[in-house]
Amino acid sequence: MSLVKDRFPVTAMDYRRLAQRCLPHFLFDYIDGGANEEWTLAANVADFQKIRIRQRVLRDVSHIDTSTTLAGEPARMPLILGPVGMVGLMARRGEVQAVRVAHEAGVPFVLSTVGTCPVDEVRAATAKPFWFQLYMLRDRGVVRAVLERARAAGCTTLVFTVDLPVAGLRHRDQRNGLLDDGLAGRLAKALQIALRPRWAFDVGVRGRPHHFGSLNGLVATPTDLNAFKTWLDSQFDASVTWKDIAWLREIWKGKLLLKGILEAEDAKPAVEVGVDGIIVSNHGGRQLDSVASTISKLPGMVQAAGGRVEVYLDGGVRSGIDVFKAVAMGARGVLLGRAWAWALAGAGASGLGDLLTTMRHELEVAMALAGVNTLAEITRDQVDVTEPR
Ligand code: FNR
Repeated sequence: MSLVKDRFPVTAMDYRRLAQRCLPHFLFDYIDGGANEEWTLAANVADFQKIRIRQRVLRDVSHIDTSTTLAGEPARMPLILGPVGMVGLMARRGEVQAVRVAHEAGVPFVLSTVGTCPVDEVRAATAKPFWFQLYMLRDRGVVRAVLERARAAGCTTLVFTVDLPVAGLRHRDQRNGLLDDGLAGRLAKALQIALRPRWAFDVGVRGRPHHFGSLNGLVATPTDLNAFKTWLDSQFDASVTWKDIAWLREIWKGKLLLKGILEAEDAKPAVEVGVDGIIVSNHGGRQLDSVASTISKLPGMVQAAGGRVEVYLDGGVRSGIDVFKAVAMGARGVLLGRAWAWALAGAGASGLGDLLTTMRHELEVAMALAGVNTLAEITRDQVDVTEPR
């Protein structure tokens, strides 16, 4: 990478390179990696390239407007900062920085169940409520308590993740020592941290505490990350069914989006149970390797949803052009995962703000050159798909 590119990062991939330089190796891998051979992770990105935008001319595109509503809330563009765990290890009090940038950019921010900063700390950082993400935990009392916290903090929308009844196998986390709590693993991590002294001081020391803040006070060992992780792993509930979602629908009165639906057959029960939206997601290729890319599954899901619920997509979105394509294939909006984590880790709040500005400009330019002024005008007519879907 040239010196010039280093100094003036523009795209998500530029920020990825910066993040790689800033973060200890195991933390960069935690963001960057996917399950097993990472085929699905790669397909999420590659399948966006199979969609071609149709260039149209002489259509008066002097009134480009990227604004929309997402789960009923006004937004400046159809983009959401999706849930990413442990952002407080990517940047000092990372979730606090991210929520401010998101709201400044006019887009929603989703706080992860395994976020570092507590709900109240994030709430105090911003004038506007944010969204909250939750997994089903075995202890339904904890689920209720966490939801009550989110409700009290004014969270309007719950993103409920359903593609994690068991944890996927992320081989990078094993190779780099992240999952090894023995002496060898601890030494490997200590060495990787020693090679990133700036991170060690700025985030490792000044960014404390590194709790799973949303769960503070609800479990016995909130300050011991390893013990906490063991507790959390034991809490992922492989027995969850649609009945549990019906229960959840009863106790959560705000907007409810189910995240992690990939096959159209699962749209019907989601609609029947009364969710407000579906997020077509394969967890960024971090769960089951070899499942299809999300963009390839989006049209089938939109058809199955039949306009009864909003359909969102995440996975592989790296630019405003990708946002255009997802909208053209029927998405109400998209969630970013890695792209925003790379920007925050690599260049802090200003980097994340710049990335969001760039993505909005990319979307605006794509709209102008495709001959549309509003998101409602972006339809399948604006794209060609190079492979049958
Ligand atoms: C995630 N994702 C995620 N999802 C979720 O529901 N709760 C979570 O805590 C996390 N944590 C998390 C951490 C990291 C480091 C990554 C990269 C992802 C999944 C995330 O919300 C989203 O589904 C994917 O990241 C989308 O794919 P892209 O945009 O990363 O390609």
